[in-house]
Amino acid sequence: MAEFDLVVRGGEVATGFGTTRYDIGVKSGRIVALAETLETSGASVDAHGLLVLPGGVDTHCHIEEAQPKGVAEESFVTASRSAFAGGTTSVVCFIPQWKGGGVLERHADAEARARKGMLDYSFHQIIADPTDEVMEKEIPQLVAKGIRSLKVFLTYDAVHLSDAQYLKVLTTARRLGCLVTVHCENYDAINWRTQKLLEAGMTAPKYHAWSRPPVVEREATHRAIALAEFVDQPIQVFHVSCAEAAEEIARAQARGVKVWGETCPQYITLTADDMDRPGFEGAKFMCSPSPRGADEHARIWDMIRRGVLDVVSSDHCAFSFGGDKGKAQNGRDAVFRDIPNGIPGLAARLPLLFSEGVSKGRITLDDFVRLTSTNPARLMGLAPRKGSIAVGADADLAIWDPKAKKTLTNALMQHVADYTPYEGMEVTGWPVMTIRRGEVVMRDGVVQAEEGTAQFLPRGPYSFIAPRGVLANDFVGS
Ligand code: URP
Ligand code: ZN
Ligand code: ZN
Repeated sequence: MAEFDLVVRGGEVATGFGTTRYDIGVKSGRIVALAETLETSGASVDAHGLLVLPGGVDTHCHIEEAQPKGVAEESFVTASRSAFAGGTTSVVCFIPQWKGGGVLERHADAEARARKGMLDYSFHQIIADPTDEVMEKEIPQLVAKGIRSLKVFLTYDAVHLSDAQYLKVLTTARRLGCLVTVHCENYDAINWRTQKLLEAGMTAPKYHAWSRPPVVEREATHRAIALAEFVDQPIQVFHVSCAEAAEEIARAQARGVKVWGETCPQYITLTADDMDRPGFEGAKFMCSPSPRGADEHARIWDMIRRGVLDVVSSDHCAFSFGGDKGKAQNGRDAVFRDIPNGIPGLAARLPLLFSEGVSKGRITLDDFVRLTSTNPARLMGLAPRKGSIAVGADADLAIWDPKAKKTLTNALMQHVADYTPYEGMEVTGWPVMTIRRGEVVMRDGVVQAEEGTAQFLPRGPYSFIAPRGVLANDFVGS
């Protein structure tokens, strides 16, 4: 009789290509057998009547990011609890760089913090200052350590890049074999409009949306893609909030350009009107790009169904509402420009997408698995270890009750922040158990995982990030 450490029995196993009733045999943290029936004298979990999905892979999370002064509120320990509570088992988060600083000096710090958690992780390296020293000496060392994605911002004072700097990042990534992920909004346009709004006394949180309407995102998306195409470097456009930006991606994809689009639950559930709540309340919904009008939600769903947007991440970036470290760090009467951007969503990501997508019939269960687990794992070079239920993969599983109804509360999120922007939303479908590398780490909302058990996920070269070899002339420029 084959001996397993754990057998998950009788669940409807979602492979991304339909569901089949399987037993799953786990040994040493990996899936070693899928069969109609598996015998074991060891531990087993009964999943009859439930769905068994690959653990969620969230490739856009801001966790315990060091800042010039201090560190973000969400630690890797609290983030791990929140992730497991919501069915996610792996993340890709960020190592910062500040203008004038290097990246290697930040790597050891980020690595030490992440190792204290329970959640498997990799990093995107933010490039805020692409000096020759950083791009030619330091980034190759990070690549050798298994970091294969560089993150750039086309806006935000502290980190935005000029077009020339962005091109330098693209060509370095091309040479070394990295994906480039891009925050697409036009820096000068936002600053100009923000100044005008503030001069006119329009300072409340709702004017955050007015300062960066869809055209500002569309323009930067177009430019980000055009420059990537110019030097033949694959990119992923982060957190697409509106159809006009997604159309830029669709057009480039139709030309064969290697560009992928990510969206987030906030762009199918929240609206700009949420920032118009009384007083400081609107700050709870402030993120960039801004949530748009309610009519945008259906357009984002269309883009998801068309495959233009093929990854749904959380962009988890938790700031508490109370206290003086989070949203109110510049006071409760701060002008919108001075309220930190970002909202928590690590635990809410999967339930929101399952409920709004699968339960409401907008997408299939296969789509859900691909959008939240398989596609992000493949695009980030984490497959086949992560993102699917297959022999040889890590035994990362989220067991779902597709009929369970829940009202979202902050307590259910188990993150560090004192609020969730999704408070009170009703969802159908809920993860009742999370298994990470064969170990039950969440059962009925109770997270039990030993701190310091997180594993770094090194990434080697992979096909998604290979350039197409299509250049206007045979010259890249670096
Ligand atoms: O508002 C957001 N999205 N904050 C997190 C940082 C970023 O832009 O991704
Ligand atoms: Zn961003
Ligand atoms: Zn982000």
